[in-house]
Amino acid sequence: FGRLNAAWPDSFSPLDRAEGAVCAARMTASPSSAALTVVDHPLVRHKLSIMRARHTPTAEFRRLLREIAVLLGYEATRDLSVTEYPLETPVAQTTGVRVAAPVFVPVLRAGLGLLDGMLDLLPEADVAHIGLYRDPETLKAVEYYFRAPADVAARRCIVVDPMLATGRSAVAALDRLKGRGAADLRFVCLLAAPEGLQRLRAAHPDVPIWTAAVDERLNEHSYIVPGLGDAGDRLFGTQ
Ligand code: URA
Repeated sequence: FGRLNAAWPDSFSPLDRAEGAVCAARMTASPSSAALTVVDHPLVRHKLSIMRARHTPTAEFRRLLREIAVLLGYEATRDLSVTEYPLETPVAQTTGVRVAAPVFVPVLRAGLGLLDGMLDLLPEADVAHIGLYRDPETLKAVEYYFRAPADVAARRCIVVDPMLATGRSAVAALDRLKGRGAADLRFVCLLAAPEGLQRLRAAHPDVPIWTAAVDERLNEHSYIVPGLGDAGDRLFGTQ
């Protein structure tokens, strides 16, 4: 994939948000911060454009999110650890490799839209669920559900949520996993706002992030602009 793989930016300017290449040139390196990867591939951009369009039907939106999840997941699992084992082909003995299955952590409910594509890639993975809603007064993320495998502290955890908007849910999900002892964490989203990236960076500088695009900004309702609207509503047909 053509992609941007850089240290965290200290800040984004409008130019940064337009093109991965521009963004790469403007990022300031910070050796202590984990990488941001924009999976800037023609197929991803093509599928994402259809998802952004106002009148794309629910079934197509859902299918495209699953397909992009495979492409993002492929990148985000590049450094999964593997173990070798002996195997026999019809022709000879050789050595196979087996990946260490991660735990996917969809943030309910829109995160479920990325989960199926991730599981297409890695059916052996386990799944932790975290349910968060935004308190309308404090705007804080409030947890209403959490269930994770008992050995989550020893596993690679890949948190998935399509929209990194304010970053509050992402931070809360990662806080929760760290509270259970998880230390090997990744975050995958479809769209990121600069505000969300900055909040996530400040709270969890150790967590690498993958996204299909970094958009311009948040609007006054905390929607990503240009974005695609409410990902959960578009995914489940509830708008
Ligand atoms: N959540 C969404 O679903 N869409 C946005 O634009 C921001 C947060």
